[in-house]
Amino acid sequence: PRIVSLALLPGDGIGPEVVTEAVRVLHAAAPADTTFETTEYPFGATHYLATGSILTDEDITTLRTHDAILLGAVGGDPRDPRLSGGIIERGMLLKLRFALDHYVNLRPTVLLPGVASPLAAPGEIDFVVVREGTEGPYVGNGGSIRVGTPHEIANEVSINTAHGVDRLVRFAFETAMKRRKKLTLVHKTNVLTYAGGLWQRTVDRIALEFGEVSVDYLHVDAATIFLVTNPGRFDVVVTDNLFGDILTDLAGAISGGIGLAASGNINPEGAFPSMFEPVHGSAPDIAGQQKADPTAAILSVAMLFDFLGFGDAAARVQAAVTADVASRTSEPRSTASIGDAIVAQLAAQ
Ligand code: NAD
Ligand code: IPM
Ligand code: MN
Repeated sequence: PRIVSLALLPGDGIGPEVVTEAVRVLHAAAPADTTFETTEYPFGATHYLATGSILTDEDITTLRTHDAILLGAVGGDPRDPRLSGGIIERGMLLKLRFALDHYVNLRPTVLLPGVASPLAAPGEIDFVVVREGTEGPYVGNGGSIRVGTPHEIANEVSINTAHGVDRLVRFAFETAMKRRKKLTLVHKTNVLTYAGGLWQRTVDRIALEFGEVSVDYLHVDAATIFLVTNPGRFDVVVTDNLFGDILTDLAGAISGGIGLAASGNINPEGAFPSMFEPVHGSAPDIAGQQKADPTAAILSVAMLFDFLGFGDAAARVQAAVTADVASRTSEPRSTASIGDAIVAQLAAQ
């Protein structure tokens, strides 16, 4: 029998609550001839406050031995000054995305049948954001001087490399070929002259290799209009790290809520383990109350299955979630009871 080794990083806040349900679904949907061995790691704000350690190079070496990683969410009490400046987000989440070269941050958005959208006329929503994961303003290339004075100057440089943009855009075109063959570049070329120029030229050049894919462009501000007024116009959206972050929370909101939005931090070549996680964060406002929707984490398991080549298991999880969301009422359910319901849907297939 095949053995797959997974690292579980439940993290903080609602992270452990949603990962518990996701792991139940993982085992319930796993093919009979495959064992998923899980090893849990405590990284996150709670671990940092207890030990002073966020994520060492040795920890990364250990995580690299796994086939894939499932992450809940990280981020502690927003009022705690020991955690200010995104020390956990940078020291753990971004460190992992960079160290494991997760250059594709894949974020699908589907409005499933029976799910209420806040949009008056959502139409059909089925697109995927191919967000760059290792560059942009996320790299930490910045600094400030005269801090705290009226003359403070702070900068945060967006890094965009030809190599980094090329490989992402290529992945986006390949994704479009497997879908409706439509690709939209989202950027802000009217202001971000240099980075925008690189992205636009890269898309124009690679488009020549993918003649069947129709290509268009939207400035990011206009893209937010169309996500609300006509989300059906999108198939594959390719964009940089920061625009992709912002657009995918909006994408989650229009398709039934952030509690349903899954993602994959992917190294397509498989040189490093890929990492799957809900789009949402640690939600300190509802943590520890069994109020979080674990569906995003469960759909992240479906993405994990898919990436590791377990297409049938992925489809089963997807179908179980589709059945569950279609039968939802306005009655609130606990995190565990949503997990129960999805496991029951799997058993009924
Ligand atoms: P958030 O996504 O945690 O919460 C935003 C809102 O959505 C909150 O009202 C929350 O209750 C709600 N929400 C989120 N997930 C939900 C779920 N599964 N079910 C129901 N409601 C849900 O965003 P935030 O408040 O901006 O961030 C909180 C912390 O999480 C911060 O420290 C942030 O840096 C971190 N964060 C981490 C990740 C990650 O680990 N991948 C992602 C985003 C934010
Ligand atoms: C996400 C999160 C992260 C991001 C933060 C927590 C660093 O918002 O995964 O969407 O900005 O990428
Ligand atoms: Mn985000």
